[in-house]
Amino acid sequence: MTVPLLEIANLNVKFRLGAGDLPVSSDVSFTLDKGRVLGLIGESGSGKTITSKAILRLLPAGGEMSADHIRYNGRDIAALPPREFDRLRGADLAMIFQDPVGSFNPVKTVGWHFRKVGRLHPGGHGGIMADAAEALRQVDIADPKTTLGKYPHQLSGGMLQRCLIALVMFSKPSLIVADEPTTNLDNLVERQIIDLFDKLRREVDASFIFITHDMTIAEQVSDSIIVMYAGQIVEQGPTEALMRDPRHPYTQGLVKTARELEGDVEKLTEISGEVGTGAWPENRCRFAPRCPLYDAACDHAIALHHVKEHGEVRCIKANRSEDAI
Ligand SMILES: Nc1ncnc2c1ncn2[C@@H]1O[C@H](COP(=O)(O)OP(=O)(O)OP(=O)(O)O)[C@@H](O)[C@H]1O
Ligand code: SF4
Ligand SMILES: [Mg+2]
Repeated sequence: MTVPLLEIANLNVKFRLGAGDLPVSSDVSFTLDKGRVLGLIGESGSGKTITSKAILRLLPAGGEMSADHIRYNGRDIAALPPREFDRLRGADLAMIFQDPVGSFNPVKTVGWHFRKVGRLHPGGHGGIMADAAEALRQVDIADPKTTLGKYPHQLSGGMLQRCLIALVMFSKPSLIVADEPTTNLDNLVERQIIDLFDKLRREVDASFIFITHDMTIAEQVSDSIIVMYAGQIVEQGPTEALMRDPRHPYTQGLVKTARELEGDVEKLTEISGEVGTGAWPENRCRFAPRCPLYDAACDHAIALHHVKEHGEVRCIKANRSEDAI
């Protein structure tokens, strides 16, 4: 049996604030196979970034994580000593942030960043620079030599994002978390970057967690999709099944809007209300205040459960009688 690249069981994240604990993600479990792309979708504040940062131990101050296990290539890395984890992250795990500026040291050139990542390169300085230039060419940077000599503030947001992706390609990690990497870019650059990820996945056999607000992009890039709502997974499964037949009312809303965007409707269907933060009731479905199907039966904690030939859904009305297990 093939071991998944990543197996997460029961991941919880909270922030310790002066006023008490703020739960941010609860009971997150999933697996990701080698060379596969997992789309992580959900509206702002649903916990996508914090969940991913927790996996890579990049939580901001005050954030605390617990998990039954986080297995990477079959090995539990949840309890790995910090120095060992840093080594693993440096070599194998990478995160592409939505805003690339914070990923660069502002007083160092782009070339310096490649030298730092490539310090163990067998070809020495010359080898690093040749491979860095090639990585920049692959992200369609026309004059890599000049770009390597530039400082981050001398490049546009789109150029810097490409440099960051080139840096990640150069370091050839096995797992890349891409956090809304195309949100601030125009459609053409977005398309190019998505194609680049596809190339990276094929050439390096890298696996991706691709975070997005956009169901259409999630559908294009992912083999499987996780939908998060209020810090919980509400639906997960293979992309094709989830897009064809979404079972959670929240996912149904997202898919409906995506289909409307592809068509020619004048007004998009909106899911009214907003996700809110932290103070979610434990004795009621977290989506209840916004759910068109809500009734008194939803007034208890809802577990994620398996739906045959579909995936997992956190809704008491997700099973159809003909496919209940
Ligand atoms: N440093 C922090 N301290 C306290 N709470 C935080 C901190 N960072 C994030 N949060 C809270 O964690 C929750 C989840 O945030 P997260 O950034 O993961 O959302 P997201 O799904 O990535 O949203 P977006 O789509 O806007 O990026 C939010 O309610 C946010 O307020
Ligand atoms: S459990 Fe009830 S409130 Fe929650 S999503 Fe399902 S139908 Fe809606
Ligand atoms: Mg985010």
